[in-house]
Amino acid sequence: MKMFLSSVMKSPKPLVHLFIQTLRCMLVSLFSALVYWTAGACKDASASPSDAKAHANKVQNVTTPTSVNYHFTRKCNYKCGFCFHTAKTSFVLPLEEAKRGLRLLMEAGMEKINFSGGEPFLHDKGEFLGKLVQFCKEDLQLPSVSIVSNGSMIKEKWFQKYGDFLDILAISCDSFDEETNQLIGRTQGRKSHLDNLYKIRNWCQDYKVAFKINSVINTFNIDEDMTEHINQLNPVRWKVFQCLLIDGENAGEEALREAERFVISDQQFEEFLDRHSGVSCLVPESNEKMRNSYLILDEYMRFLDCREGRKDPSKSILDVGVQQAILFSGFDEKMFLMRGGKYTWSKADMKLDW
Ligand SMILES: C[S@@+](CC[C@H](N)C(=O)[O-])C[C@H]1O[C@@H](n2cnc3c(N)ncnc32)[C@H](O)[C@@H]1O
Ligand code: SF4
Repeated sequence: MKMFLSSVMKSPKPLVHLFIQTLRCMLVSLFSALVYWTAGACKDASASPSDAKAHANKVQNVTTPTSVNYHFTRKCNYKCGFCFHTAKTSFVLPLEEAKRGLRLLMEAGMEKINFSGGEPFLHDKGEFLGKLVQFCKEDLQLPSVSIVSNGSMIKEKWFQKYGDFLDILAISCDSFDEETNQLIGRTQGRKSHLDNLYKIRNWCQDYKVAFKINSVINTFNIDEDMTEHINQLNPVRWKVFQCLLIDGENAGEEALREAERFVISDQQFEEFLDRHSGVSCLVPESNEKMRNSYLILDEYMRFLDCREGRKDPSKSILDVGVQQAILFSGFDEKMFLMRGGKYTWSKADMKLDW
């Protein structure tokens, strides 16, 4: 007790933060109950609880989790030096709990789920991921199910088993020069990242999955011209991110990565974009656009709020429900729409030339 008191005296910030969060939760619950009472239960005895809930949502301006990124594992077989979602825990939810959370999200309005990590194909050799992908498409009937992966662990068998249930597969590739990938850490040993990329591109074609590429622009690849390779690979979307720093992940004392040496300026990022202005599928994401425009769920199904430059976790949706947790997500819906977060995301609607 004495030790606890002295540590609180030294650094009272976490306690104050907890106090404010609890107070906000209590006020929101009180407000919900009040709105429910005035909107439905009191005025019109025939109003259903779901009508009242929808009304309460509107009044409270609660965010709908239309598009969610579930980072169910933090473990990875690569060592990208700039990585902003690092192996701080090795926790993964039991499959049935993950499914329960995904159902809660669907009931709260989720239309698109993206599975990320860590490396999502690592846990249970991709079976955990496959089962969730199948569940989201078959049971929850989500319009869009996607994955972002480094591509190194994917086998053709996975496509045979689960390809039908997947809309989009994004593979991250930051350079078309093997040496640069080695320097970045975007590799496992001396294996070729690029051979995998091309192999997966072909499997996507064979198994009718839309293929996407993600690239992080940093000091190691800033002078590259990737036009030829991207045109050859012909992804449905090429996401180009400006390398982002997150305290506690890839910057600051407690971080597992030190990404400062990868950071580029806004002007350098603009120059890279100008060089690639002829690539029609390019979707740029500067630090400003990226920081708060994603709904991120961590391995415990807690929303991560990046507004303070860190990833501050909410309570788990499994404990408090989606609506309570999402209040602490820091999500900027306007920026999400501005960066083109809502697009044709069902493969059935893409009219692809398979
Ligand atoms: C954290 S990774 C997890 C999925 C998978 N391991 C991969 O690399 O694709 C998700 C995406 O974030 C990108 N990313 C990682 N660190 C980043 C950073 N510091 N700034 C911007 N994007 C980053 C990755 O390149 C990848 O496209
Ligand atoms: S960005 Fe690199 S290190 Fe981070 S999770 Fe993806 S592959 Fe692993």
